[in-house]
Amino acid sequence: MEITPNISLQKYNTFGIKAKAKFFCEVTTIAQLKQVLSLDQYPRKFILSGGSNMLLIDDIDALVIRINIKGKEIVKEDNNTIWLQVMAGENWHNFVLWCVNNDYGGIENMSLIPGNVGTAPIQNIGAYGVELKDSFVSCNALHKKTKEIHTFNKEECKFGYRDSFFKNEGKDEYIITSVILKLSKKDHNLHISYGAIASELASYKISKPTIKDISNAVISIRKSKLPDPAELGNSGSFFKNPVVNKLIFDKFIKNNPEAPFYKLTETEYKIPAGWLIEQCGYKGKRYGDAGVHKNQALVLVNYGNATGQEILHLSQQIQTSVFDTFGIEIQAEVNIIK
Ligand code: EPU
Repeated sequence: MEITPNISLQKYNTFGIKAKAKFFCEVTTIAQLKQVLSLDQYPRKFILSGGSNMLLIDDIDALVIRINIKGKEIVKEDNNTIWLQVMAGENWHNFVLWCVNNDYGGIENMSLIPGNVGTAPIQNIGAYGVELKDSFVSCNALHKKTKEIHTFNKEECKFGYRDSFFKNEGKDEYIITSVILKLSKKDHNLHISYGAIASELASYKISKPTIKDISNAVISIRKSKLPDPAELGNSGSFFKNPVVNKLIFDKFIKNNPEAPFYKLTETEYKIPAGWLIEQCGYKGKRYGDAGVHKNQALVLVNYGNATGQEILHLSQQIQTSVFDTFGIEIQAEVNIIK
């Protein structure tokens, strides 16, 4: 394990922001992770995983530790179900494809989400009607101070919409090292009603889809709407979709009867932030190298040389505009690293 000074983090964050790490190292085992966390000569340490859900505002004045711990194994299985343990450094999409190719069902709707397995529980990743929590059993996480591994079951993770214990009480306390998921081996529970999946499958003339068909449909929909971070820097949805109470919703829908929405409960409604932002005129707008994607207003993009500060400034301008227009607050989903 080598510690290198003054390393550019551009290739380690999907926004492609040219921030630097004062020191940088990569760990491939839990033993190495414990070892590097014990190095007192580097008092400040910063944990980096897939770099797909963060906006770097400044250089990082710390030892940046990149989690690159790989591996997966079968914990147990019966005729219908398989329990898989996956290490934190595995690429999420590669893992989904591996499951789909082995006919393990449950996460196919989350194909092509950037990032690594270890960060998936932090924000309870989700797409097309399925969230990580639906197949989640437990995760192991290293407590940064005691260096002990704790196992968190699903309840302890307190999953919510793009939310968990690790974004709240447990923030910055733990490093997730592995995740156990429970997947189906047959009679898969398919989710095709959300968004454009059904019409995409119909366009392939598929009436009885397999999980591979669903994965392909999701990949194709995502490719048509969302920019590939390898080509255009971005962090997926920059904002969360706001969840509002019935009072606010009734007023909103009266003034905007054409707006899309999802009724979550009798009292809670989710309004697509992408729609709100588009109405405010930001879709496809570009300010220097910071911009709003032309196909999905929820995604902010870096055309090459945008700084984190410029992207942040644009995001704040959008928040203000949405609030002034609709009286609704939208919050960043991406972690802003100051
Ligand atoms: N919409 C607009 N204009 C836009 C974007 C969206 O009017 O520029 C409208 C769409 O027409 C649609 C609605 O908003 O009626 C919802 O759009 P979409 O289906 O694209 O999904 P989203 O709510 O914008 C969420 C997730 C995505 C996930 C998709 C599909 C969040 C913050 N984002 O986006 O997740 O892929 O649903 O499930 O919940 C991510 O988290 O990084 C991410 C990409």
